[in-house]
Amino acid sequence: MASQFLHAALVAALCVSLAPASLAAGTPAGNAEAGQAKAVACGGCHGADGNSAPEIYAALKAPKLAGQVSEYIAKSLHDFKAGRRVNETMSPQAQAVAEVDIADIAAYFGSQKAKAGTAANKDLLAQGEKIFFKGKGRPDVVAACVGCHGLNGIGNRDWAKIMSRPPVVLAPAIGGQHAGYVSDQLLAYKSGKRATDPGHVMRDIAGRLTEQDIVAVAEYITTLQPR
Ligand code: HEC
Ligand code: HEC
Repeated sequence: MASQFLHAALVAALCVSLAPASLAAGTPAGNAEAGQAKAVACGGCHGADGNSAPEIYAALKAPKLAGQVSEYIAKSLHDFKAGRRVNETMSPQAQAVAEVDIADIAAYFGSQKAKAGTAANKDLLAQGEKIFFKGKGRPDVVAACVGCHGLNGIGNRDWAKIMSRPPVVLAPAIGGQHAGYVSDQLLAYKSGKRATDPGHVMRDIAGRLTEQDIVAVAEYITTLQPR
């Protein structure tokens, strides 16, 4: 009980301390229509509407960007540009994006509708659903994914509608994402290879998930249809 309380308190403290700074660091609103033309180069890997098809994902490992929180797309491009996040395929792509085009491209993909995927192993869905909605209890207490990533994994663009307090900001949309991408990112946080998360939030969470938990929650997340 005590550790669960402590964890809740820590998450609450994180929310308070990170929210104003990161929201302010936010984004100039982009123009989705202008962004569509600027995003042509991205479509070959991410899909023209940001829904990379399963066979494209299998070959290129490019995640869906459709319906992604625009501020998170911009943050991720800046992380790649600055070398805080490294991927041999995506890093050079990010270098090629002009700073002035980022907001428009982010607005374009953010305005598209994400399409749900299908689970490869349906036997894991119940376990994945439980982690998504309830997290994990002692000894490895994990906060529920839904608390930050929102219902259907829509990301916290609409947090004000579903929560009384601002969550840790810029929790991306994950609903409908390719399961392989979700599990790869969780493993990257778990190993510390990916360290772009404010306040260590995802490294702490993924660090307390087993590899089996990660596969299960990823299978569940891909079946979600964000609305
Ligand atoms: C040659 C294929 C390719 C092209 C072209 C490409 N990307 Fe990517 N992109 C990737 C891959 C692969 C990843 C996954 C990186 C990882 O696993 O860390 C990625 C990741 C991303 C992410 C992070 C998404 C997330 O959920 O964290 C963003 C944002 C992104 N790309 C935006 C763009 C934009 C904008 C363009 C066009 C200017 C673009 N990409 C062009 C392959 C590509
Ligand atoms: C306290 C808030 C919080 C909770 C709880 C949380 N997340 Fe996150 N998550 C974030 C934030 C913030 C980011 C973005 C971090 C960054 O920029 O690297 C993120 C990023 C991610 C990413 C990377 C997405 C991408 O497109 O690259 C995945 C996958 C993810 N979370 C899955 C989960 C799962 C699964 C759970 C539940 C076991 C969970 N998260 C719980 C806040 C949270």
